[in-house]
Amino acid sequence: MCGIVGYIGSKDAGPLLLQGLKQLEYRGYDSAGIAIGSADRIEQVRRVGRVANLAGALEEEPLRGSAGISHTRWATHGKVTEENAHPQPSSDHRFSLVHNGVIENFESIRAFLRERGYQFHSETDTEALANLIAYHYDKEPAASPDGRESHFLRSVRKALLHVEGTYGIAVLCADAPDQLVGARKGSPLIVGLGSGENFIASDVAALLGATLQVIYLNDGELVELTRDSYRILSSEREPVDAVVHEVDWKIEDSQLGDFEHYMLKEIFEQPQALENALRGRIAEDGSTAKFGGLNISPRDLRQVDRIVFCGCGTAWHACLVAEHLIERYARIPVEVEYASEFRYRNAPLDKDTLVFVISQSGETIDTLAALREARRKGYRTLAINNVVGSTIARETDGGIYQHAGPEIGVASTKAFTSQLFLSSMVALLFARLRDMSFSDGFRYMESLRRLPEQVEQALRMNDSLQRVGQWLAGFEHCLFLGRQLLFPIALEGALKLKEISYIHAEGYPAAEMKHGPIALVSESCPSLFLVSQGEVLPKVVANMQEIKARGGPIVAIATESCQLPEGLVDERITIPDADDPTLAILATIPLQLLSYHAALARGCDVDKPRNLAKSVTVE
Ligand code: F6R
Repeated sequence: MCGIVGYIGSKDAGPLLLQGLKQLEYRGYDSAGIAIGSADRIEQVRRVGRVANLAGALEEEPLRGSAGISHTRWATHGKVTEENAHPQPSSDHRFSLVHNGVIENFESIRAFLRERGYQFHSETDTEALANLIAYHYDKEPAASPDGRESHFLRSVRKALLHVEGTYGIAVLCADAPDQLVGARKGSPLIVGLGSGENFIASDVAALLGATLQVIYLNDGELVELTRDSYRILSSEREPVDAVVHEVDWKIEDSQLGDFEHYMLKEIFEQPQALENALRGRIAEDGSTAKFGGLNISPRDLRQVDRIVFCGCGTAWHACLVAEHLIERYARIPVEVEYASEFRYRNAPLDKDTLVFVISQSGETIDTLAALREARRKGYRTLAINNVVGSTIARETDGGIYQHAGPEIGVASTKAFTSQLFLSSMVALLFARLRDMSFSDGFRYMESLRRLPEQVEQALRMNDSLQRVGQWLAGFEHCLFLGRQLLFPIALEGALKLKEISYIHAEGYPAAEMKHGPIALVSESCPSLFLVSQGEVLPKVVANMQEIKARGGPIVAIATESCQLPEGLVDERITIPDADDPTLAILATIPLQLLSYHAALARGCDVDKPRNLAKSVTVE
């Protein structure tokens, strides 16, 4: 949420910052801006709307200089206007600041500064911090008492001591054109190291193509960059000996290639993402899964008598599938919590409870807060996470990386199915530590191995799904219905459709439909059923009849051997037969493609749906 990129080196900063912003635009796209320091001045250009608008403005009015900061905004405080766009200058224009996060006490900071003559031109919380830095800069002696901090860095640190809330910031100072300062608390920030140049960014994607050497800053840390050096200080002014990591994503991973949209590209990358999730994780005897980073012994894993899963949005749906699989195969009681609720609920947990979080980005603030709360209370924590080095990955006791590659489309697709796949492997691991036999484990693993090929097969339906998606585009309301393992997939189908096509959609367990949602059923509200063979099929067919009797159009996404009465459904989409460990994944594929085509037919920007941003780093 909000993307930050900063550069200091010897090249022209403008084009580099613009490129970084384009690669980060999924973090917010309400407005974008750039500020460049040259000699003793800072110049800026800001535009409402996409990075492309900013690029157009910079073509007409280029900024020259080799140090700068830039931002793509997801609005929190203040409307989407040029005045509220970042960078935010201090009123004396000596400082310029980009910020991701929320400064909760900004009103009192503004009041304090107003009394001292500072002026405000925006409604943002960020401008309060820009002016607070300027205030401390004037108050602080220029000479450093012990050489640990420059005047600039010290002013930023002192200002941040008064800030309540969260921030990832990058700051320019007109008096120090050879320095860039950054700091983080609660919002991600990384440092990219180049040769004769250095970067600051809110995530790795911004730096692909520029450098693969990164340092992940920890909460409370500040960094001072010059073109040839970096210095990191803790909030207590202690020098930090940071570890430099090598990023294993390639620039091509973040490019569109032959695809029109990232969402479609990522849907089609799913077989590969699943292969990556499986690679190296099949135990030697082929009957269970093994994970390198759990940091927990099989004996301790056996002790776990309850698991609480936490996540948000699509990741929360993955948690629901994990619940079903672990309870069914490993017989361990599982609960699923919205991460945002869990942290404030103070649920009583016993000492052998494992708290398991799922997050693609590893930066979602609610999920991170849930993890921190669980750790604070001394529970063992695990995480499934896609972004290497993310805050959740660094703070969890143990974890499983998804290796799905960068997910750029704001609507999660390949990360979701990879989370389901890994949840299925976790269920197998727990089950084999308990009562599942070798041969059942072996068969389970065989179905996981077959899955990438089956997903390829499901993707071949794209053309026929385009027609159904275009038909769906003509409606304003839609129900998604499924039972058991397919209920969370109904929720996910509804979320995907509403977030990218703006069609109002709701997911329900099929049998629950009679308890209220059936009131919505009419010729103008289709129902999408997810069905597989099994004991509840006759009940689901009865639900379809109830909808048919009321004139509601029906689409069935059904497994191959699932028999449906002739003429009952208006459209049938057939997916390969599958057992529970892989069923949810196969049922997800057509839902993703339907949403994609429906959104496209309605002229929506599928990669950047309105009001959304990837990686929600504010509460
Ligand atoms: C929806 C979507 C979101 C995310 C949610 C959690 O398509 O992508 O609902 O799933 O914001 O994000 P992560 O997984 O990064 O914690």
